[in-house]
Amino acid sequence: MSHDVILEARDLKRFYEVSRGGFRKKALLKALNGATFDLEKGRTLAVVGESGCGKSTLARLLTMIEPPTAGTLKIRGVDIVGSDSETRRKLKSKIQIIFQDPYGSLNPRQKIGHALEEPLLVNTQMSRQERSRAAREMMKLVGLRPEQYDRYPHMFSGGQRQRIAVARALMLNPEILILDEPVSALDVSIQAQILNLLAELQQRLNLAYLFISHDLSVVRHIADEVMVMYLGVPIEKASRDELFARPRHPYTRALLSATPTADPLKEKQRIVLHGELPSPINPPPGCSFNPRCSRASAECLQKFPEMQRCGQTQVACYHPYE
Ligand SMILES: Nc1ncnc2c1ncn2[C@@H]1O[C@H](COP(=O)(O)OP(=O)(O)O)[C@@H](O)[C@H]1O
Ligand SMILES: [Mg+2]
Repeated sequence: MSHDVILEARDLKRFYEVSRGGFRKKALLKALNGATFDLEKGRTLAVVGESGCGKSTLARLLTMIEPPTAGTLKIRGVDIVGSDSETRRKLKSKIQIIFQDPYGSLNPRQKIGHALEEPLLVNTQMSRQERSRAAREMMKLVGLRPEQYDRYPHMFSGGQRQRIAVARALMLNPEILILDEPVSALDVSIQAQILNLLAELQQRLNLAYLFISHDLSVVRHIADEVMVMYLGVPIEKASRDELFARPRHPYTRALLSATPTADPLKEKQRIVLHGELPSPINPPPGCSFNPRCSRASAECLQKFPEMQRCGQTQVACYHPYE
């Protein structure tokens, strides 16, 4: 199997200064605190974790909506942080994002044909006729009818609107799609249709996906690789099969056991996560999972564990499940 790495993230961080009210000193919120991973051409890396663990922050860094506080990000070997604006503009078109709520990213007063043509108008020299043809072809590719070109966003269903968002993201022939909970707002029956569309497009266009989701049943369906995050830090990385068969980190185990399963025996071994997700402003010292972990020992309170190999998996834990 060839490994055609298209995106490399190394120790990516994003901190926010947040006000704590009154005259108190501003605090530093570490939304993302050191993400390292590769994304390969034509493959899907799923990013999972509870709400607030930094998934959308990561998405904003990868799509250059925001710069990282620290760390490096390379696309096709080119460092985007240190590059000039022209290089960055070109790289930006290679990597597109799709959000949970397509309605929020579509202008309600713009015909969808025009919404699809907009990226071409801004970034290419194509004529009006060429743009219109490209938009109609893209509509077909994502399962819309070209006659719908003149319609407005409100005239479409949620699933169709997500198809429009996918079409718009593809107009500049990107190599990478960042999908931030792309089906979480849709009915389950519609979810499957959109997931199938994404799988089909990936095959056809050899796209790399970074697929953010809190829904492990969706992840199991679509991922090649999975990265589990906790409080701004990846704590386990493995292939999809390995992660679901042999979760190593106690947090990953807890996440998996919280996913409904039809197997009553498995239900009995359910691990319940105790306590709230701590605040990224004041994370616990050592491993930030230690207050909720049944395996925590003295060293877990001292220093955050480095990622290390355990079988086929990378895990940041002093006491992984062997
Ligand atoms: N612009 C911002 N300013 C301050 N805090 C933020 C900002 N964006 C996100 N955060 C905080 O960073 C943490 C991670 O948020 P986010 O990346 O949205 O998580 P997720 O997508 O996994 O739910 C949360 O505690 C959130 O409140
Ligand atoms: Mg989010």
